[in-house]
Amino acid sequence: MPLIEWTAELSVGIGSIDEQHKKLVNMINALNDAMLLGHSNELLEKIFSGLATYTHKHFSYEESLFAEYGYSDSKEHKRQHQELIAQVVDLKTKFLERPQEAMNKDLVIFLKRWLTNHIMRSDKEYSDFLISKGVK
Ligand SMILES: [Fe+2]
Ligand SMILES: [Fe+2]
Repeated sequence: MPLIEWTAELSVGIGSIDEQHKKLVNMINALNDAMLLGHSNELLEKIFSGLATYTHKHFSYEESLFAEYGYSDSKEHKRQHQELIAQVVDLKTKFLERPQEAMNKDLVIFLKRWLTNHIMRSDKEYSDFLISKGVK
């Protein structure tokens, strides 16, 4: 069973954003699988870097929609994005310094919550607004 199961609960009702969230889910699941299978630190690092890069890309996409349609809560939402980026960069740095100690169950569970809490608490708040603007 994957660490994060994609369910309707995670959907924000906007196809382009759900696809990006699924990609992030897959990356965290891949990191968990690679850890459990005892894959090399090089591979773990590659997945981790990919996650950080893609998170950045995804947040930029959401923020460009906020700017385009004038989403009223964009300031607080962007602040959360910055915090989430800082957290993933920090984890990556710790992993690069001490891969053996840093890569454990707590780390992947943190990442699971890191993503799903943000989707369910904050991303879902823009759903109705962006859907009303015709975003798909
Ligand atoms: Fe998102
Ligand atoms: Fe977001």
